[in-house]
Amino acid sequence: MVYLGSDHAGFELKESIKEHLKEKGMRYADMGTDSLKSVDYPDYAVKVATELKNDADKNSFGILVCGTGIGMEISANKVNGIRAALIHDEYTAEFAKAHNNANIITLGGRTTTSTEAFRYIDKFMSSKYESGRHENRISKISSIEKLESVDKTVKN
Ligand code: RB5
Repeated sequence: MVYLGSDHAGFELKESIKEHLKEKGMRYADMGTDSLKSVDYPDYAVKVATELKNDADKNSFGILVCGTGIGMEISANKVNGIRAALIHDEYTAEFAKAHNNANIITLGGRTTTSTEAFRYIDKFMSSKYESGRHENRISKISSIEKLESVDKTVKN
């Protein structure tokens, strides 16, 4: 399952992405927004992140779109267990999966054309997490979530 969300600035790109996923026979769930009316991107980041967390299928992932992709990335990464990555070319699309095992990709509706976005999404979907040396780094990311706010030092 692909969980989709956007604010007003990402709405049109999100709608195009739905068509692309449909053509590829992918299942998706659109968590909004549903128009160009101004809304706050953190609301949609949290909706997608929460749905994804409650989905037991490890192949599920999320796509969040705002103007730059940055606000969605920052917001989604506040949710424990989420690794959201801003994608701006095929290289970042590939390595967000291969090295970071990202479970959400974010895109900029004002910075990325739909043709570019489709290429990046396809690249992300066809890439594989390499695990190995990256696993310890990912578990250190998870350990940051458990630290007290007074001490954010990761112990080796
Ligand atoms: C909305 O104008 C814009 O600030 C938002 O879509 C996003 O780019 C924030 O990161």
